[in-house]
Amino acid sequence: MGITILWLNRKDMDGLIDIHNVLPVVENAFLEHGLGKVQMPPKVYLDFKAHNGDLRTMPGYLENMDIAGVKLVNVHPDNPKIGLPTVMALMVLNSTKTGAPLAVMDGTSLTDLRTGAAGGVAAKYLSREDSRVVGLIGLGRQARTQLRAIMEVRDIKMVKIFDMSKESTVAFKVEMEKEMGVEIESEPNAREVCDCDILVTTTPVKSPVVKAGWIREGTHINAIGADAAGKEELDPMILKNANVIVDAIQQASHSGEVNVPISNGIFSVSEIYAELGQIVSGIKQGRENYSDITVFDSTGLSIQDVVTADLAYQRALERKVGLELELF
Ligand SMILES: NC(=O)c1ccc[n+]([C@@H]2O[C@H](COP(=O)([O-])OP(=O)(O)OC[C@H]3O[C@@H](n4cnc5c(N)ncnc54)[C@H](O)[C@@H]3O)[C@@H](O)[C@H]2O)c1
Repeated sequence: MGITILWLNRKDMDGLIDIHNVLPVVENAFLEHGLGKVQMPPKVYLDFKAHNGDLRTMPGYLENMDIAGVKLVNVHPDNPKIGLPTVMALMVLNSTKTGAPLAVMDGTSLTDLRTGAAGGVAAKYLSREDSRVVGLIGLGRQARTQLRAIMEVRDIKMVKIFDMSKESTVAFKVEMEKEMGVEIESEPNAREVCDCDILVTTTPVKSPVVKAGWIREGTHINAIGADAAGKEELDPMILKNANVIVDAIQQASHSGEVNVPISNGIFSVSEIYAELGQIVSGIKQGRENYSDITVFDSTGLSIQDVVTADLAYQRALERKVGLELELF
């Protein structure tokens, strides 16, 4: 018996999935995680120190949905200088019955979407319902999907932005103001951005860009940028004064926002309040008090990729999109 694979390129993927349809499947992935119905070993990293980048593999299996796959993804923050995205990915979906590869797809916009969707799920369960102002520090690809997802779950009236690159700031403001129809205010520094209800950080930095004294009571923070050992965006005192929710404890302790404070003894794993899946599944409560500061520490889970890839695959089959390639 021969095996064929469905090849879905960027253009195919962009026509199949968007933040609106990815949000609910990613929420469901967190639910399955909370119920303990997933297999998801922590990411495996190759560190290309000489090239300021890394390459990761991320396998995942959702038992109830019976879907599985693996993502291969890099992070090279200098790539935009040569016209390439910082993050690029290839996603493979496999049959759980035979193990055969079913589809190979561009995982680049998939990564942006599933990361945005995780931020949207976190904002839905953890931010104040009356949140109106979003603050964004770092204005690259992840910032765009974070904003789109948050605007799906909260009635946002204003967005405050800061990026160290003027060019990125102008591009973000022009593009997103037009797309989202929301007022976007460019701020002179990161501090001004923190005067908001939901703060999102999406920078690749290795020392904090947000100080504890800048964060108002009641703020929810999506800390997205730190997703490898040594990366850190927030003053660790923010974590000490907040309810910290991670996507997965083992992975976050190694590579999330909490990794540096844990390794230098400022913060401990026992201080983590919950995993997001425990909140989505009702095992733990989300926001408890209006004035709480909550932090979602996102590293990105393989199960987010698998559910998003499965959504794209099912839609591609329905619409007869993609190219059938013979494997053997
Ligand atoms: N948690 C997750 O699931 C997940 C998923 C994808 C990417 N990431 C991480 O998110 C980060 C951003 O990824 P991206 O794809 O948006 O990259 P990007 O290169 O498109 O955007 C990053 C932006 O941050 C800005 N920046 C850098 N240093 C800054 C500073 N000190 N102050 C303000 N702005 C600064 C850059 O100018 C750039 O505009 C990376 O660290 C990446 O590894 C996390």
